[in-house]
Amino acid sequence: MRTHRTAIGVAFALQLCIAVSAQYAGWTIPENAASEKSPLAPSADNITKGRSLFASNCQKCHGPLGKGDGPDSDARRPAADLTDEFRYDINPDGVVYHKIMNGRPPDMPAFKSTLSRNEAWAVVEYVKSLRKPQ
Ligand code: HEC
Repeated sequence: MRTHRTAIGVAFALQLCIAVSAQYAGWTIPENAASEKSPLAPSADNITKGRSLFASNCQKCHGPLGKGDGPDSDARRPAADLTDEFRYDINPDGVVYHKIMNGRPPDMPAFKSTLSRNEAWAVVEYVKSLRKPQ
């Protein structure tokens, strides 16, 4: 009986891992990322700062408005359209932050050695400003 229950527990834990890793497969996302809130306000200043960092670091792949239509976007593995509505729920603040910092090899570069913490959060604010209001 005990082994039976343990087996169910293990199966459940495994299923949970598969569900979590399927959502973020290939990305390095810390466990508590989804509840991590942006330390910056979505103010005009922060969004302007984020926009200029986006223009110099991200636009060549993601396009000026995050549609995934930049000149360096590879048609076989295109840069994500960051304004897709299905992405809003799977990409809360902290998840976008860690996707930017850690990247997803080999398609999406990591920016942790290029952007400071504050710069990356400003980019998160800009990315959020590209989403259509819900
Ligand atoms: C060399 C091209 C390239 C550059 C530069 C680049 N990206 Fe990406 N990015 C990609 C590709 C390709 C994907 C899709 C990866 C995947 O899902 O496998 C992606 C995915 C993402 C995602 C995840 C979308 C999702 O819903 O999973 C975010 C967020 C993102 N990029 C933001 C940025 C930001 C912000 C920058 C600049 C700091 C940036 N990217 C720079 C190519 C790039």
